[in-house]
Amino acid sequence: MKKTALLSAGLLFLLSLSFCGTARRGVPMFEPLSISSPAVAQGKAVFKAHCQKCHPGGTAGLGPAINNKPLPGFLIRYQVRHGLGVMPAFKEEVISDQELDHLVAYLKKLRKAKDEV
Ligand code: HEC
Repeated sequence: MKKTALLSAGLLFLLSLSFCGTARRGVPMFEPLSISSPAVAQGKAVFKAHCQKCHPGGTAGLGPAINNKPLPGFLIRYQVRHGLGVMPAFKEEVISDQELDHLVAYLKKLRKAKDEV
């Protein structure tokens, strides 16, 4: 008896979750890219200066697309600092640690955006 009560309480809880937990329903998957923070804007400038020619707008060019997969920040940093294959390494003299942080912030924004911005 006690078990059934617990079970139905649990079921009720799950039900309420499935009714209330969908605040994002109807919201499009992509959000427009708003260059809201200065950090992201600076990241964009760094991107345009150093990455754009091979990853145009984050899409594939000479390099692969980088706007279509959830690359973790540390991986982007590693790739930028060490390069790989055709991609050159960018040392601190070229892209400072702070600029790299902003670049990563921009790239994370970019992959949520629908269009190249
Ligand atoms: C000279 C062309 C070139 C430039 C400039 C360049 N890349 Fe790349 N990038 C590549 C190529 C080519 C690869 C693929 C390397 C491989 O796998 O051999 C790549 C790979 C990557 C990857 C890994 C993608 C994946 O699917 O794992 C990331 C992240 C990346 N680049 C970010 C950047 C960023 C950020 C910049 C600017 C600081 C930049 N790249 C500048 C050519 C370039």
